[in-house]
Amino acid sequence: MTKRVAILLSGGGSNMVALAKSMTGDHPARPVLVISNDPQAGGLGKAQAMGIATQAVDHKAFGKDRARFEAALQEALLEAKPDIICLAGFMRILSPAFMGQWEGRMLNIHPSLLPKYKGLHTHKRALEAGDQTHGCTVHEVTAMLDDGPILGQATIDVKPDDTPDSLAARVLPFEHQLYPAVLQRYAKGDRTPVFLPTTS
Ligand code: GAR
Repeated sequence: MTKRVAILLSGGGSNMVALAKSMTGDHPARPVLVISNDPQAGGLGKAQAMGIATQAVDHKAFGKDRARFEAALQEALLEAKPDIICLAGFMRILSPAFMGQWEGRMLNIHPSLLPKYKGLHTHKRALEAGDQTHGCTVHEVTAMLDDGPILGQATIDVKPDDTPDSLAARVLPFEHQLYPAVLQRYAKGDRTPVFLPTTS
């Protein structure tokens, strides 16, 4: 049976586009809904242009009431009946209770070689630490932030003149390779990690 995939984003949605483009032909999954917490997120328009249903659940409308925001998010998700949820640049922290509801069915992409640099400013932190390599990770979401079993990593060499922006720009195309590769396996029930070869 074809797996139903919901994608959550907050920004431009380049990872969403890579995921959605990959789900064609004999791929075991299809995108059924793209949700953003920001009604202005560029990713929503890109999803619409690809013919994917979209929904905005504006976190600002709920003020500091995260429980009500998450209840609205949960309602939208339950309606779409996803088998798999992909967080793709979704920049709201979800509560352990919320993430626990989807454990085993939710993936995230993070722009660092986890377990290094959970949280924000990953590229800057890798440079400040003098790391020789950097990259991105797809992992299963558990109740802990940027934690959970690693399902894939792409590693690149850091260049002496890299800045946080240049590093982010060089990692992003590898995110676009890694996330679809992991999702394709995951949708078949295969959790064997994907490790892309190190690239300079
Ligand atoms: C990506 O680099 C993704 O790894 C990162 O946000 C960017 C979203 O770009 N995610 C996080 O930092 C999550 N903690 P996109 O909207 O173009 O896919």
